[in-house]
Amino acid sequence: MARLLITGGAGFIGSHTCVVLLEAGHNLLVLDNFSNSSPVALERLKSILNLNDRDSASRLQVFQGDVRDIDLLEKIFEKSELQSSPIEAVIHFAGLKAVEESVHDPLGYWDVNVSGSRTLLEVMDKHDCKTLVFSSSATLYGYPDIVPIPESAPINPINPYGASKAAVEMMLADVAGCLKDRGIKQASTTGWRIARLRYFNPVGAHPSGCIGEDPNGVPNNLFPYVSQVAIGRRGTLQVFGSDWPTSDGTGIRDYIHVMDLAEGHKCALDALVGSGPQLLTLNLGSGVGSSVLEVIRAFETASGREVPYKIVERRPGDAAITVADPTLAYKCLGWRTRRGLNEICRDGWAWQFANPNGYKGEVA
Ligand code: NAD
Ligand code: UFG
Repeated sequence: MARLLITGGAGFIGSHTCVVLLEAGHNLLVLDNFSNSSPVALERLKSILNLNDRDSASRLQVFQGDVRDIDLLEKIFEKSELQSSPIEAVIHFAGLKAVEESVHDPLGYWDVNVSGSRTLLEVMDKHDCKTLVFSSSATLYGYPDIVPIPESAPINPINPYGASKAAVEMMLADVAGCLKDRGIKQASTTGWRIARLRYFNPVGAHPSGCIGEDPNGVPNNLFPYVSQVAIGRRGTLQVFGSDWPTSDGTGIRDYIHVMDLAEGHKCALDALVGSGPQLLTLNLGSGVGSSVLEVIRAFETASGREVPYKIVERRPGDAAITVADPTLAYKCLGWRTRRGLNEICRDGWAWQFANPNGYKGEVA
């Protein structure tokens, strides 16, 4: 069992991945500045896993701070070495992820996402920790020509958030010594083991209802908006366009249950640790597309609540359909999604119902 550093471990995907990694017996150091998350999420992990105070002190250590803070990163790596339990691998979730915000603050996105990753890599290299799982995104593909989208599809970011992820992917290829970055699975000439995981649309929650997605302010994304309408926090969902070239005219996405995604990280880590230096590049998606109207119907069934909606203009920058070709993740990791739209809505609703205001109002 390894000691792992999880940057952004208090966030939506990070907290669910922590559950899976702790269940697998790993010991975790979480670094998070809580700019888009709450320490309460980490407290909830302890109750999901029945960790007592003694267990949690050794199995889940939390560092509040910024991934761009090189001194703090040094301290975390040095402390682990002094305890004769060096950090063996890093899962790097910390970053900014709101597309529209990135248009207004491109430098902020390059700073946190790109400079933050660079700083982390520098400290990892110095401490000879060369195993990294990186949160990339399907947003890299922009408006895809081929659906389902294979990893070999052109990288064509259409906003600063996507550009920052593309830049980090390139930086990782350089660090791995893969100068002709041909994607998928390549040997690394520098000793690094890196997985670039391109997530499709992560949604849902842990089935306990204890942790879930808790966006600040008005949600930008479909799922949290739908569930806040169902719980009564918001009045009507706006459906962005009913004239897309799809079966019912609304946009189609590949929604992936966050627990499937969390398990994908464990599989990627196991694959890296179990084989030689390499650069893996994989889509994490289900391969199944759901339209906005299908999501609304499934959520109404799961919640027993009505989700009032109205059709409005298309949202600028949206694509009609994005669905993953997940074949390679299965080939390389033996991983595929196990939960569908009904489980996504059931677990997402359990979280929203038990926590109508998310983590807000609760002190860790
Ligand atoms: P999130 O915002 O819930 O989690 C990110 C975490 O990083 C938060 O806890 C936040 O407080 C922390 N953080 C942000 N800036 C930091 C900094 N400078 N230093 C330390 N911590 C910092 O987001 P998420 O949905 O869990 O996404 C995790 C990763 O996956 C992100 O890199 C995101 O870009 C990527 N991703 C997310 C999606 C999605 O739709 N959720 C899709 C594709 C890729
Ligand atoms: N939608 C609505 N109403 C809303 C919100 C969304 O109709 O209030 C529609 C969108 O038009 C789209 C679908 O619901 O057809 C999904 O939209 P989301 O905003 O939930 O997700 P996106 O696919 O646009 O983007 C998300 C993240 C990106 C990430 C991408 C792929 O916001 O950062 O998934 O992982 F890159």
